[in-house]
Amino acid sequence: MKDYQRNLLGFTLLLVLSGGALLYSNRSQAKRTVKIDTSQNVQLALGETIYKSNCIACHGEDGSGYAQPDIPAPAINGTEHAWHHPDEQILALLQQGGNLMPAVGANWSNEEREAVWAYVKQWWSPQQRKAQSGTIGE
Ligand code: HEC
Repeated sequence: MKDYQRNLLGFTLLLVLSGGALLYSNRSQAKRTVKIDTSQNVQLALGETIYKSNCIACHGEDGSGYAQPDIPAPAINGTEHAWHHPDEQILALLQQGGNLMPAVGANWSNEEREAVWAYVKQWWSPQQRKAQSGTIGE
């Protein structure tokens, strides 16, 4: 092989390798971003739909509560104490109901109960979400 041929071969190899590396890194980046975004958006979109048809009547569109004069449904948007309760307790409340709150989510899947709860928790501050975990409900 002549010198210029070897150089050409080396150069071609380099091009192919770096092209491949670039493709690979682009693909793995795109995959990561899409995965995170879709799963979150899908969950929140589902939660919003469920919230709007099952919770608004009592807790209001923005979660500020007291949407009906005769039912004292508390604010759940972070302005009152809903964020002191651990998630499991609220998921059980949705499934079993409370004193005045009906068991709205009795026939829902875990995924549906978690989605509506994720939608509500968006309204809280990051500090409230952090403080909530591990807190035993009051
Ligand atoms: C018929 C009215 C009504 C509906 C519909 C309703 N709730 Fe409630 N909710 C209440 C009442 C009243 C309470 C106070 C506890 C009790 O008396 O059961 C409550 C309590 C809560 C609490 C606890 C708040 C705290 O500070 O302790 C959360 C969280 C909650 N509801 C979320 C929801 C979600 C999410 C939905 C929809 C999936 C929903 N509720 C649907 C009436 C309602």
